[in-house]
Amino acid sequence: MASQFGYCSSSSTTFTPSSFKNETHLSSRFNIVPRKSHSSTSISLIRLRIRPRKHFQLKSSSGHPLNAVSLQDGTAGVPLAKNDMEPQGKEESLPFSQSENVGPHLSITIVGASGDLAKKKIFPALFALYYEDWLPENFIVFGYARTKMTDEELRNMISRTLTCRIDQRENCEDKMDRFLKRCFYHSGQYDSEEHFAELNRKLQEKEAGKLSNRLFYLSIPPNIFVNVVKCASLRASSTSGWTRVIVEKPFGRDSESSGELTRCLKLYLTEDQIFRIDHYLGKELVENLSVLRFSNLVFEPLWSRNYIRNVQLIFSEDFGTEGRGGYFDNYGIIRDIMQNHLLQILALFAMETPVSLDAEDIRNEKVKVLRSMRPLQLEDVAVGQYKGHSKGGKSYPAYTDDPTVPNNSLTPTFAAAALFINNARWDGVPFLMKAGKALHTKRAEIRVQFRHVPGNLYKRNFGTDLDKATNDLVLRVQPDEAIYLKINNKVPGLGMRLDRSDLNLLYRARYSREIPDAYERLLLDAVEGERRLFIRSDELDAAWALFTPLLKELEQKKIVPELYPYGSRGPVGAHYLAAKHNVRWGDLSGEDS
Ligand code: BG6
Repeated sequence: MASQFGYCSSSSTTFTPSSFKNETHLSSRFNIVPRKSHSSTSISLIRLRIRPRKHFQLKSSSGHPLNAVSLQDGTAGVPLAKNDMEPQGKEESLPFSQSENVGPHLSITIVGASGDLAKKKIFPALFALYYEDWLPENFIVFGYARTKMTDEELRNMISRTLTCRIDQRENCEDKMDRFLKRCFYHSGQYDSEEHFAELNRKLQEKEAGKLSNRLFYLSIPPNIFVNVVKCASLRASSTSGWTRVIVEKPFGRDSESSGELTRCLKLYLTEDQIFRIDHYLGKELVENLSVLRFSNLVFEPLWSRNYIRNVQLIFSEDFGTEGRGGYFDNYGIIRDIMQNHLLQILALFAMETPVSLDAEDIRNEKVKVLRSMRPLQLEDVAVGQYKGHSKGGKSYPAYTDDPTVPNNSLTPTFAAAALFINNARWDGVPFLMKAGKALHTKRAEIRVQFRHVPGNLYKRNFGTDLDKATNDLVLRVQPDEAIYLKINNKVPGLGMRLDRSDLNLLYRARYSREIPDAYERLLLDAVEGERRLFIRSDELDAAWALFTPLLKELEQKKIVPELYPYGSRGPVGAHYLAAKHNVRWGDLSGEDS
């Protein structure tokens, strides 16, 4: 199976990693400081800006003093050949001279720069970081792809998708111009060392002999990850600072292919240099999960089988695979959403208290959760696929109407699964996942249903259905971020009538700042060497070990997914699965769906 993927080319095995191992850290952006606005006594975790940050003594996740960064390596870049240093033209050369002393140079190369992800997410995220002064003083962005394009054409292309944050539109045009002037393009093949050597020369020109760090973002299909990593490693890695590579899923299709990909990447990179992105970990509410749990006394004591009846992790989209059928049909919803996004949230939710907030401490705890889980079996899941549907004079296509999807495809576009963690904290508590495309709504949330109140004095006020009287804690990841707790409350008046109310923290009502996109947070973390929100290879192995037997069984037995209409609430099989575990889906209760 693994060899079908051919991640490593035959020539790749002779290479010994060298220059990619040079790692330095900029700084950690988490510092406890008084919040600027609101209550003067409140303390919050917020970031300091990069420039001021250099004046503080900080520690990285590995415990190194971070503001020694720019001094740590000490070596200036290797001397360059004269013709390598010749500026290409006025507009292309940056006024770095004024800011020579502000720290190392940062070169970000987006490989696959003309693709959708780069245009819609990566360039806009970089611009947002630049706009808000999060990037180091000396940085440039290179787009790399096969398409022939000039720097100017790249700038035109990306300028169409750059937007300014809604709360700070001042100087947007000006900032955009200045950002675009730092963007360059190099056209090349993904497997050509020569083309990466040309990129290297261009990078060196811009870096002008300074200590330079290089970040590569692989926004390309996984079958060419290793080619690119090999060429970049041999020909374009930094000789004076660190080199890091961000890779985006899919990381294989199962345990074997994922293992092979990891093995091949590690021929050229150390684990520390690989930043496996799962963009759900960069979402505000997901990051807040640990804050909520570990910094509020009211939650942590309840966080176990003693008080929690079940946990639901729900993802739904109100559109189908439009335009992505070719990719999707090869993976399906379980690999696309459950094995990564939802499982990562589950691990963060269920982990034990880490020794510290250091990346390795957190990832160690997440791996323990994954290893304590029972691999999924066929009876633990319900799968579905959307079919065509007409509503209000409009017709919606079936999954198999997509021209890039085979007519007889059995790929699930919906799945529900029941998972269990066999440890002392969670024994017997069902963790239900549900993920689907072409459903009635777009939403991602975590729902925690608590147990019944023993000997409830008010039980006669609830009628026969005590399930309706339990507390639910909901973390709405998107849209309209919120955290709310469903409680029972007395309706004001002389009688004794109870109703269900919410203690509601609605982000848009509480915080005036716009919430950053997940890619902004993750890109900044990669620049700063903060690995907390990236997936370590043993986490990935453990995640695949849970899903691989099920995926194989579904495919070998050609399990036919239950059809559900486009725009509906999904197949009825999901309800049977939940009922089997004595669970009622919280999102379909009618209270807040
Ligand atoms: C991606 C999946 O990882 O996440 C897509 O491949 C999905 O199928 C997307 O649409 C959802 O991300 P978000 O941030 O829009 O919820």
